[in-house]
Amino acid sequence: LIADRAHRRRLPVYVVGGFVRDLLLNRPSQDFDIVVEGDAIALARALERELGGRVTSHSRFGTAKWHIAEIRASLLKNTLRLDNADLSDLPEYLDFISARTEFYDYPTALPTVERSSIKLDLHRRDFTINTLALRLDGRHYGDLYDYWGGYADLQRGLIRVLHSLSFVDDPTRMLRAVRFEQRFGFQIEDRTLQLMHEARDLLRQVSGDRLRHELELILAEEDPLPALQRLEELQLLESIHPDLHWNPQLNDPMHAALKAPLESAWNLPETWGGAPIRRMLAYLVWFLPLPAEKSANLAQRLRLPHHLREGLKIGAELIPDLPGLLDCAPSRIVARLDGVPLPVIYALFLLNRTSEIAEVLSTYATRWRHIHPVTDGHTLRAMGVSPGPAYRRILWALRAAWLDGEIHSPEEERRLLEQ
Ligand code: CTP
Repeated sequence: LIADRAHRRRLPVYVVGGFVRDLLLNRPSQDFDIVVEGDAIALARALERELGGRVTSHSRFGTAKWHIAEIRASLLKNTLRLDNADLSDLPEYLDFISARTEFYDYPTALPTVERSSIKLDLHRRDFTINTLALRLDGRHYGDLYDYWGGYADLQRGLIRVLHSLSFVDDPTRMLRAVRFEQRFGFQIEDRTLQLMHEARDLLRQVSGDRLRHELELILAEEDPLPALQRLEELQLLESIHPDLHWNPQLNDPMHAALKAPLESAWNLPETWGGAPIRRMLAYLVWFLPLPAEKSANLAQRLRLPHHLREGLKIGAELIPDLPGLLDCAPSRIVARLDGVPLPVIYALFLLNRTSEIAEVLSTYATRWRHIHPVTDGHTLRAMGVSPGPAYRRILWALRAAWLDGEIHSPEEERRLLEQ
């Protein structure tokens, strides 16, 4: 469809990058980056006018996003006449890019952009394996364009930059190199490794937001653990911040945080502070074992969200108290743990899985925290207790009695209350 509309406008159009790479590796992907040798925004707008959906665009970069989630059914049935296709056969949006070349005025700057050919567009990219293009228009349909040796590197399993300043232009590419290397079981090519070694100090200048984004892409990989190990080995983590390291002892808790089923009896929320719970657990598991000062430094360097920062602080204060809680009555434990966010407690549970501390944390999360007296403020008012701090004291005393097994029924609670 896109090829046809581009062809009518005599525009060469290609699908490039990750989609082609993944296609050749037999790993299906819906990550369509469409490069147009010409005005990509105009092409996307023409498709929007004819077929619907919604286009958002960046004229500075010559890029457009065609959002097609709502029109997928009609595209499949009426336009493409695919009666048996599934909605998920189409992506929710397509990216259109005007072929462009980029200049970096100084390292890590945002690039200056200029229209160019597909060949130069492919040259501005990070690694050779991401420079393959499949042409879509007219009789060129299906032609593979391989200007920069991407096909050979895909076959050999090599991650290779296109030029010696690639990491200087964009130091986050060093983290991408490790991500792709580990995802595909490839090797970073020797010269590229050398360039990484020379450029790694530039990571210090990259903003916390960009670094956090890249780290989160790594955490979102199917198996992020080897990539974290490799980042450590290549000294990339300590180049981000001297306190940032990966310790393989964290492999099990990190796997539990990101991948293993979460303990259903804990009833963890799906998000915390608006962010996905697993990502938040991953940071907690990673940074809670550090001295409070170091984890605060890292939280600041990576501009971690407020909830997480607070959670790390509260967790750091709790850790030294945990062994002492083992011999305490349930009410003492509850008094200490109430107010600690549940994700923090879960992360500490994962970090202490083999010790009795895990048992205590789990009992708190799954049983004790839900135990409350039947009496509430209304009951007390009805009994003539005047509102004030006494309410809290009485209600807590009743809760503690339940927790510590001193009472077992509402009748016993009532009797205790009347005393
Ligand atoms: N790119 C780049 N430098 C970066 C980020 C991206 O050169 N710092 C280029 C890559 O060549 C990539 C394209 O921009 O092909 C699109 O980026 P992205 O969608 O992140 O890459 P994918 O290869 O699709 O990654 P993934 O498979 O993880 O989605």
